[in-house]
Amino acid sequence: MDSTLAWLPDGSPYSPMYDDVYHALGGGLAQARQVFLGGCGLPMAWEDRASCRILETGFGLGLNFLTSWAAWQADARRSKQLHFVSLEAHPVTAADLLRSVQALHAGDAEEAALLPRLQLLAEELARAWAGLRPGLQHWDFEGRRVRLSLAVGEVRQMLPLLAQALPDPVDAVFLDGFSPAHNPAMWSAEVMQGVAQLCRPGTRLASWCVSGEVRQRLRQAGFEWRKAPGLPPKRHRLEARYLGPATDLRPGNGDA
Ligand SMILES: C[S@@+](CC[C@H](N)C(=O)[O-])C[C@H]1O[C@@H](n2cnc3c(N)ncnc32)[C@H](O)[C@@H]1O
Repeated sequence: MDSTLAWLPDGSPYSPMYDDVYHALGGGLAQARQVFLGGCGLPMAWEDRASCRILETGFGLGLNFLTSWAAWQADARRSKQLHFVSLEAHPVTAADLLRSVQALHAGDAEEAALLPRLQLLAEELARAWAGLRPGLQHWDFEGRRVRLSLAVGEVRQMLPLLAQALPDPVDAVFLDGFSPAHNPAMWSAEVMQGVAQLCRPGTRLASWCVSGEVRQRLRQAGFEWRKAPGLPPKRHRLEARYLGPATDLRPGNGDA
């Protein structure tokens, strides 16, 4: 069996390597929209701008990318360009990318209306995926208005590579990964510092993860954060903002 991805009997995508699901079957889309996009103030934050650059840790099944792309398409005031930058050590197959979108459960009518659009975009992504190779690659869609830059490799090595390759800092960060207990490499202090190097003061960051250690590492990397109401069953989600290179422990970050 391929240890990258397995499908559980209920249809959930699961990682045997990390003993965790990629996302909850009924909650993946809501998480992408409310926790990641919403947590970074999107779509509003990209409106009427020349470009929006999003960095993600952990491309996985591409759900956050596809949801961002669909939200961008649907927004009449979208930025002229959308640049989605992500990294992934264990890419799934194109067939699994497609299957994961087909397996999504819509939580409400709005999500149900979104599913056919996501399937079309997943098909475009799956076609590009055929050329996947280790290291950094760029794929352009929509007449080059949407760009996906994917760094295939270990997060510790890919973040410095991105820092060298990207001409401009990112506007938003989707901090993702399997749970810190099963996937500590994704949530290390080094990763938070590496993410910070790709940010500008004001860059927003979102995550479902509110672990105290992760919050502390973010603060040490120069982010201020707050806990926001989470997507059930989680009580909280994380919203953060990059302040600039950290020199000390800043006020306003209570460890609540
Ligand atoms: C929860 S999944 C991400 C889901 C994804 N954001 C989406 O929208 O579908 C976490 C991803 O992080 C990747 N990952 C875990 N450890 C990693 C590491 N050390 N370096 C790079 N990627 C890693 C996993 O292979 C997995 O695809």
